[in-house]
Amino acid sequence: MVAEPLLVRGGRLIDPANDLDEIGDLSIADGRIAAIGAVETPAQARVIDAAGLVVAPGLIDVHVHLREPGFPEKETIESGTAAAAAGGFTTIFCMPNTNPTLDSVETIARLNEEIARRAVVRVRPIAAITKGRRGAEAVNFAALAAQGVVGFSDDGDTTADSAIMRAALETSRELNVPIVVHCEDKALARGAMHEGDVSRELGLPGIPPEAEEIIIARDLMLARLTGGWLHVCHVSIGRGADLIRAAKRAGVRVTAEVMPHHLTMTDRWVAGDRTLVNVDEPPGEPGQPADANTKVNPPLRPEADAKALLAALQDGAIDLIATDHAPHAAQEKQGTPFAQAAFGLSGLEFALPLTLALVRAGHLTLSEAIAALSATPARLWNLGGGTLAPGAPADVTIFDPNERWTPTGDNLRTRSANTPLLGMTLTGRVRHTLVAGEERYRG
Ligand code: DOR
Repeated sequence: MVAEPLLVRGGRLIDPANDLDEIGDLSIADGRIAAIGAVETPAQARVIDAAGLVVAPGLIDVHVHLREPGFPEKETIESGTAAAAAGGFTTIFCMPNTNPTLDSVETIARLNEEIARRAVVRVRPIAAITKGRRGAEAVNFAALAAQGVVGFSDDGDTTADSAIMRAALETSRELNVPIVVHCEDKALARGAMHEGDVSRELGLPGIPPEAEEIIIARDLMLARLTGGWLHVCHVSIGRGADLIRAAKRAGVRVTAEVMPHHLTMTDRWVAGDRTLVNVDEPPGEPGQPADANTKVNPPLRPEADAKALLAALQDGAIDLIATDHAPHAAQEKQGTPFAQAAFGLSGLEFALPLTLALVRAGHLTLSEAIAALSATPARLWNLGGGTLAPGAPADVTIFDPNERWTPTGDNLRTRSANTPLLGMTLTGRVRHTLVAGEERYRG
């Protein structure tokens, strides 16, 4: 099906890849951006009035748990990609901690078929580093890269065997596909939340930040040794960002992501506090202590880390914002004591409002925010999108930066609303998400 011609009229066009921030029109034909600026209305075009709205390249999330195959009670391709579209994402990368694990040509081929039939946004799989993510035997990197996987990751766990990691990074250099690492020394990280004053106050087992720092350091060393492309997932500690900054300065090929929750929430949220940090938003009503919807891995950290992560995003030590959208069924969260509950937060529908809060607080320009959520991942992975330039695929997100809304269990598209943001007032909401010029979400 060829999308109808479209004119997006009078919006604030933000295209970080071309340093563009101006009011204007955007026309779309044959699934691509046709023209930008002051544009004639194409014949038979549908018009979207974007006055007062921001028109940006479709957002790209390089870290999503879509839960297929194997965990439809948490999320499905339908619900996860609908949540992505509602959050303004037009491309997502999906993680391989599925059942079966995405570790073979067959599982990736089968998933790609399901994606082609059922996804409403573009989905690109990340394959595992080791078979079954068990850490013992490497996957066939070259065969999987030939299928177009956009990374290799044992996310959810660290690949403990340094020799396998060395081999993976060596291969990544040849294939130009990153090794995407979850940095956590498992033996140290047996707790349920950040180890510190709050974990002691609540009597919950703690995870020391060193569990993350040790593995970031190891993996940066292996990236230096091999010249491979290391992508560090969900950096949650300031000292981790410092190591990445120093490695970049020394010429190591490393990229890194930070999550909106680590930029704006702290371990105090586990005690029930609902004050967002680094922003000027009103706090939410206090929650229950040890609400499993504040349990995530790596855990929410103290405010000093959130501040250091923001500084790292600003100075480029951290490249981009991703969500680590990690849906879990209610009984794995609410129905379970905190120490045993599943790790993970729902993220796709909250990344834009939380990032816009950083813009309102003056920490990022709107263009920098859109770069972190779209242009930069597009450039790093050479995806061919992430821009409003004529000729580019018409993957476009149109949002109202000022609309206030309250997430509830009912107004989200994800199957699992595991987030401590429920009931809070957020500002910034998607109105239209276009993929190849077709409207895949209308708010
Ligand atoms: O909190 C998390 N949840 N962190 C991870 O690394 C994995 C994820 C999941 O798959 O639920």
